[in-house]
Order: sequence, then structure tokens, then C-alpha cells
Amino acid sequence: MKETELLGVQQTLSPVLQAKALDNRLNDPILGDHYAEQVMRSLDPGYDNRRFGASQVGLAAVVRAKAHDDWARDFLADHPDAVVLHLGCGLDTRVQRLDPPATVDWYDLDYPAVIELRHRFLPPREHYTLIGSGVTDLTWLESIPRSRPLLMIAEGLVPYLTETDLRRLLTSLVDAFPSGRLQFDTVPVWAWRTSKWDPTLRTYGAQFRCGFNDPAALADWHPRLEYVDETPMYDAPILMAKAPANIRRMYRLLNLIPGMKRSTRIVRFRF
Ligand SMILES: C[S@@+](CC[C@H](N)C(=O)[O-])C[C@H]1O[C@@H](n2cnc3c(N)ncnc32)[C@H](O)[C@@H]1O
Repeated sequence: MKETELLGVQQTLSPVLQAKALDNRLNDPILGDHYAEQVMRSLDPGYDNRRFGASQVGLAAVVRAKAHDDWARDFLADHPDAVVLHLGCGLDTRVQRLDPPATVDWYDLDYPAVIELRHRFLPPREHYTLIGSGVTDLTWLESIPRSRPLLMIAEGLVPYLTETDLRRLLTSLVDAFPSGRLQFDTVPVWAWRTSKWDPTLRTYGAQFRCGFNDPAALADWHPRLEYVDETPMYDAPILMAKAPANIRRMYRLLNLIPGMKRSTRIVRFRF
């Protein structure tokens, strides 16, 4: 990856993209995202020759992507007129995987440097717009059609926002749209507090800025917001069914450590 082009938190997109690229090399992949493999190879031809090489240690991130895809697919099947806000999109190719009908307007948002890479490595589409902006500067929201149902997807983004910014983002979205779904993932308070010592995050000069022990309680932030449910990640049946045996064993062991199993919570809300 031309990591020199990405700064701080922007670099966190790289291990997730790599995990998706490597999953696609399994005989029976979880996500099967051939675009991810293509983009990863174009960005960094030697991506599988480094420290963890072609190991599937990051496969739980792929489970998270699949969970968000499945929820999004369901929502779009019921709301073919939806507006999708895919925030902190990184180089994820969700719009290609889901291939929504032309009645859906889809927006991918991330920092300008990341969007620049998307322009370079991913094809344009009809009814698909890239927004190069920080997510917390809400002026981008003014350019979005706001009379249709909203689907907001934020995969791997929320922990990098402060609670104040997250609250302003979520409540502004509920205020701006007639109805919708918000799906994202959070970390608990201990993971937030210890993230400054996380070796991977330290390499990128990034750290988490919020954490929640009870993410369902975020529904209290707006009278129209309602918690729907949560889906598993580190102990997801699909991970246990499809991961190579050594990776399955690794996750089983990790899940024995108190708190690890729920160290990421994938949650959704409706309004
Ligand atoms: C862990 S990566 C996840 C990328 C992508 N969602 C995925 O799952 O492959 C986090 C992404 O959030 C983006 N990000 C973090 N803070 C942001 C902010 N304040 N505004 C816009 N993007 C942000 C980063 O640039 C990065 O692309």
C-alpha cells in the first residue's frame, strides 16, 4: 500500500482490505470479494509477503463486513428507494458486492486522500457518489437527498470518533431523514481506554476515541431512535464453519479471554 499517501487513522483501512482480499483466496470464502483482492494487489503487489503474509488471522473483520452486507441487503430489499450513506468507507467495495438497483442512491464517504485512492482503483457507477470529507464536518449532509429512507453503514469507523461527534452525527441523521436504519460497530470502554497501547494502532498513529459497554443505550440519544439488535463477530457461526482449522482454534482460544468475544459489537438501530 502506498501508505505514504494515507495518514494516521486512514491507514486503518489497510488491514481490513487485506483480510477481505485473503478471504477471497479461501476455497469457500466468507465474503468472496474479488474486488478487494484486485484493489489490494494494485495498491501493494507484495501485500501477502509481509509479517503475517497470507495468514487468515484477520478473518473476523471479514465476518463483520458480511454481517453489514447481510443487514444492508435486507434493508434495500424492503426499501428500494433508499439513500445509502456508507461512512468511513475506506477501500471497501460494498457497493460492488451489493450491486443495488438504480433506484438506490449510494454515497461513499471518507477523507479526501482515501477517496482519491478510490477514484484511482475502483470503477465509477450510476447513482453512486464519492464524498471526500471528514465525517464530523456535517456540511456534506446538505448535498444528500433527505426525503427518502436512510441506510447508514459505518463499519470500523465509530471507535475513531469522539462520543460528542458520534452523538451529533447520529442525531443529525435521525433529524434529517423521515425513517431509516443505522448500522455500525462499537468497542467497549476497556478497548477504547487501552487502544493507545494497541501495537497495530500505534503503528498507524491512531487510537480509539470512544467506547460503550451497552451500545443499545445509544438509542437514548434521540426520542425517535430505537435499538434493533446485535450480531456476533468473533464467535460467529460462519467464522467457526469456514475459517481454516488453525484460525478457528486461535479465535476459540481468544474468546476464552474475558471480554474478547464482545470486544467489537455489531449493532443496528431504526427510526
Ligand atoms: C478501519 S477503517 C474501515 C474502512 C472500511 N469501512 C472497511 O471496513 O473496510 C476506518 C476508516 O474510517 C475512516 N475514518 C476515520 N475517521 C474518519 C473521519 N472522522 N471522517 C471520515 N473518515 C474517517 C478512515 O479513513 C478509514 O478509511
